[in-house]
Amino acid sequence: MSSMSKPIILFLYSVFSILSIISDAVELDTITTTLSLSDGQTMVTSDGTFELGFFSPLGTTSTNRYLGIWYKKISNGTVVWVANRDTPLTDTSGGGVLKLTDGGVLVLVNSTNTIFWSSSNSSSNSSTHSPVAQLLDSGNLVVKDANDAANGQNFLWQSFDYPSDTLLPGMKLGKNLVTGIERRLWSWKSGDDPSRGDYTFGLDVSGYPQLVLLKGSVEQYRSGPWNGLRFSGSVGLKPNSIYTFHFVFDQIEAYYGFDLVNSSVFSRLVMNQNGIVQRFTWNYNTKNWIIYVNAPADNCDVYGICHAYGSCSIANSPACGCLDKFVPRSQKDWDKADWSGGCVRRTLLNCHNESSNGFLKYSGVKLPDTRSSWFNSSMTLEECKAVCLKNCTCMAYANINVTAGGSGCLLWFDDLIDIRELPESGQDIYIRMASSELVSEAGSKSNRKKRTKVIVGLALLAGVLMLGLTLALYVWKKKHKQRKLKRGERSEYSLEQGRTNESHKEDLELPMFDLATIANATNNFSINNKLGEGGFGPVYKGILEEGKEIAVKRLSKYSTQGIDEFKNEVICIEKLQHRNLVKLLGCCFQGEEKMLIYEYMPNKSLDLFIFDQTQGKLLDWPKRFDIINGVARGLLYLHQDSRLRIIHRDLKASNILLDVNMIPKISDFGVARSFGENETGATTKRVVGTHGYMSPEYAVDGIFSVKSDIFSFGVLVLEIVSGKRNRGFFHPEHHLNLLGHSWRLFKEGRSLELIDAPLGEDSCSLSQVLRSIHVALLCVQQSPEDRPNMSSVVLMLGSEGALLQPKQPGFYTERTFPEMDYYSSSRQTQTTSSVNEITMTVLEAR
Ligand SMILES: *[C@@H]1O[C@H](CO)[C@@H](O)[C@H](O)[C@H]1NC(C)=O
Ligand SMILES: *[C@@H]1O[C@H](CO)[C@@H](O)[C@H](O)[C@H]1NC(C)=O
Ligand SMILES: *[C@@H]1O[C@H](CO)[C@@H](O)[C@H](O)[C@H]1NC(C)=O
Repeated sequence: MSSMSKPIILFLYSVFSILSIISDAVELDTITTTLSLSDGQTMVTSDGTFELGFFSPLGTTSTNRYLGIWYKKISNGTVVWVANRDTPLTDTSGGGVLKLTDGGVLVLVNSTNTIFWSSSNSSSNSSTHSPVAQLLDSGNLVVKDANDAANGQNFLWQSFDYPSDTLLPGMKLGKNLVTGIERRLWSWKSGDDPSRGDYTFGLDVSGYPQLVLLKGSVEQYRSGPWNGLRFSGSVGLKPNSIYTFHFVFDQIEAYYGFDLVNSSVFSRLVMNQNGIVQRFTWNYNTKNWIIYVNAPADNCDVYGICHAYGSCSIANSPACGCLDKFVPRSQKDWDKADWSGGCVRRTLLNCHNESSNGFLKYSGVKLPDTRSSWFNSSMTLEECKAVCLKNCTCMAYANINVTAGGSGCLLWFDDLIDIRELPESGQDIYIRMASSELVSEAGSKSNRKKRTKVIVGLALLAGVLMLGLTLALYVWKKKHKQRKLKRGERSEYSLEQGRTNESHKEDLELPMFDLATIANATNNFSINNKLGEGGFGPVYKGILEEGKEIAVKRLSKYSTQGIDEFKNEVICIEKLQHRNLVKLLGCCFQGEEKMLIYEYMPNKSLDLFIFDQTQGKLLDWPKRFDIINGVARGLLYLHQDSRLRIIHRDLKASNILLDVNMIPKISDFGVARSFGENETGATTKRVVGTHGYMSPEYAVDGIFSVKSDIFSFGVLVLEIVSGKRNRGFFHPEHHLNLLGHSWRLFKEGRSLELIDAPLGEDSCSLSQVLRSIHVALLCVQQSPEDRPNMSSVVLMLGSEGALLQPKQPGFYTERTFPEMDYYSSSRQTQTTSSVNEITMTVLEAR
């Protein structure tokens, strides 16, 4: 027995407690045992915190005996580890003994030497000559080679590798990727039965690692992936004064662990038998364990409660909503709080080519289930996006690590499940979306949130409109009265400055010009100052006293028609600010005079260039392409980004004005319509627009939407490229209009023949030309659904990706153009002019 003295000395010397050594060791069949601990004997750690021994669960009449470790000093009886949880000793005579064999294996035997439990399934190698077992201060029961003691951590076996339901400081919750040892917490069956219950809590490493709570094999709760600071969804995991935590993920292992800040302030994590992971801390004052945090903590922590693409927000009731741009798969079920169908994209994905897709950023969320994820920790967000974009089954991407500006790449290859809103601690994810859904606004909002926003927006809009109308009415009335008194004289509204009406400027924001100022500026509306004829009256050039050039749109004095349009334009454009929209400087309402004052555009309108052989030469291809893009951005602003979302309804070459730098400005909002965020359009009995630019559904059925503007835009682009008007287009070989002609050339691969002669092919970027024609043909599709929206158009024009193939356009021959309908007896036509380009109004007699 002299070989035993060495470990004994070592143990006494060490701070660790040791297993008592019983010299008259029981002989086990073939194994020589070196140590043993019988029922009734215990071992206590050197600091008295933990105790190892035999126990029966507290508060039960059960006579089952278990070998376990429990807190001793602070809370006698809080069991943290059980060796034979599924194989209790039923021998009531206290015959259980823990033995350590010469080979370094711990075995639990009863009085008849039947093995009830052993550590032999561990990876211990039997080559050791002097195994010792120790209960470390941490509560870890270890077996190691006494000769290897200096090494400290080189254990042959340790209880920390086989957790029960409790994670202690220093334990690893996770997996060794080399040995395959997986450490997960497994709940007790009940408070008095330590056998394995229903719930486990561990690290799932099938995708990017995340902690998962399972009932059997069914997910109950998910922490979300580690993001460098915490698990994405574990709100309760914050730096604190009690414990520090860490997550290790490398080639060898992946685990979560924690350490105490002050070794006498205790904390433990338990997977309880009711399916809740609880962290407890010891309260010295009340002498009990208090719950520090629970997971799942609330309804939104219930795994996948809102199902695919649903988003849970605990602030809402019900908590489930769809992610922005997603809608319930079944609204009916959803309304009954049955979320099992989840949500689907409002606009379905189309993966024909890369440019038909993009990604929308959602912020402040718990990242979805990563089990079908792929990752690379060294990639940047841009590289990540590029990889995701290439594979259409890639549904989303995100940074792995949110610290230091973000790094790493996480990709999802399945429906996104278990997202919740975490406004403060959530992170960003980029979800694949049809290009048409990609607007500049970003952020993660559930539908419901969106809805409130819309309602607020609509209320605001209604308020603005009411205010505007009331003010306009007030101003008109006042001026009308005043005009009766001093007709033709300067009104008292014209102040010393000679231009603005201060009192109303405040209310309307829009400067009011007085009639005299405008008359003066335009040389009393001299014919020489006339720039042209708009839909509802002439437009004059004027020069204000300070030298500023203006354009004055004057509503015909004796016309009753157009007042609505005029008001509409004031209300519309006052709220709009964009470099590709013409800027309204002010207005003038005086008696029957109604005028709008714009910034003056020295280059007048686009039609004067593109439809003129000589002037056309001044607009080379790069300028034309800039104009196309500028108009597209202006329209995008109107459709999606402006405060009032606007359908222009009368987009045409003569309504595109050009400033001194040939920057295009969309003008004439007389017939524009504002629409709510949830509306896509409306139907009108009063079809207003210009032949050649009107979409089929609008011209025929009066249905207008952003897609009718898209049609007009497509026509405009073809006109810019070809230098020909759609309306009145003539070709000796066929009766097609410009749309039909373009389509025909496109089909035959001869699109380049469309290029305007003064342009010449040489000056052109042919790929830009072809792309413009292609996009234009997509815009003039017969069916509104087939037309892209403006954000896609802007994207398509600016990118290189492949495009969808257009079908035959709407209104592709002169004959299919429904103008004949207009002049049939059932409709009364009122055009303000017979000139091609003049906006016309068709009043339907229904
Ligand atoms: C640790 O906590 C104990 C008990 O609350 C306290 O007495 C002791 O001062 C603390 N030690 C440190 C270093 O904070
Ligand atoms: C991760 O990305 C980096 C940088 O793009 C690359 O060099 C590396 O090979 C990638 N690793 C894997 C496993 O794909
Ligand atoms: C897309 O990703 C999935 C999942 O990783 C993979 O199975 C598939 O082969 C990929 N497809 C392409 C075209 O790379």
